Amino acid sequence: MNVVQSIADVRRIRRESGGSWGLVPTMGFLHAGHVSLVERARRENDFVGVSIFVNPTQFGPTEDLAAYPRDLARDLQLLREAGADLVWTPPVEEVYPAGFQTYVTVEEVTKPLEGAARPTHFRGVATVVAKLFNVFQPDRAYFGQKDAQQAVVIRQMARDLNFPLEVVICPIVREADGLALSSRNVYLTPEQRTAAPVLNRALRAARTAWEAGERDGEHLRQIMRAVLDAEPLARPDYVSAADPVTLQELGDAGRGVLLSMAVRVGRARLIDNVLLVNG
Ligand code: PAF
Repeated sequence: MNVVQSIADVRRIRRESGGSWGLVPTMGFLHAGHVSLVERARRENDFVGVSIFVNPTQFGPTEDLAAYPRDLARDLQLLREAGADLVWTPPVEEVYPAGFQTYVTVEEVTKPLEGAARPTHFRGVATVVAKLFNVFQPDRAYFGQKDAQQAVVIRQMARDLNFPLEVVICPIVREADGLALSSRNVYLTPEQRTAAPVLNRALRAARTAWEAGERDGEHLRQIMRAVLDAEPLARPDYVSAADPVTLQELGDAGRGVLLSMAVRVGRARLIDNVLLVNG
């Protein structure tokens, strides 16, 4: 496994390899969810590239950039075991050199949900992912469904900017009690960790109602809010039953719905979702 820092080295290895490449973009502090992306990329491509870069432009001024968890040695060990071929760990100046001033802005789908709470977040995500696509030039790029809005934004960007690659969205990986894996789960105290599966319980309650024929978007949101309200440690930012493509809130959820939420538990801001489609 090659571990490199410069764009020139990634490009050289990519050029000299021949064969198809899968890219797994990450911010490090890897868990089984990331490993599942690398394993899928391994199955579907000749070579697998991974980026580890805590991207400053997707953090707001009051967010956890400096404190974001990091453990490069452990990450590299996990990636070696999962069969990655190339890992790019650039310093910030390699990605954003002095004088950098070009950003990618995806419009409508970045406005609601996470975008409403984190107004500059998706500009940072779209910009760094566009750069990763240019540097690696992968045939396929792998992202988790856990960041459902991010998946929609990246698909939209790849389509709008004609990136010649396939965006592959992989299922959420969960703990046994239903908590979605996230690098930010380390912020939870034991008591908060016990409370955190409430997100999954709220989603499951709405899912059960939808599967039993409930199609009223507002009722689905109420069902989720009621479950969250019963957990004193959970402070919801938003609860949503939205169109899976436009991310607009639905009155009628008959043609499919993305149920999602962001909930503060202690200092962690947890997100989770379930995508329900007909047939
Ligand atoms: O999902 C993430 O970890 C990040 O948003 C990504 C896609 C690696 C961009 O920094």
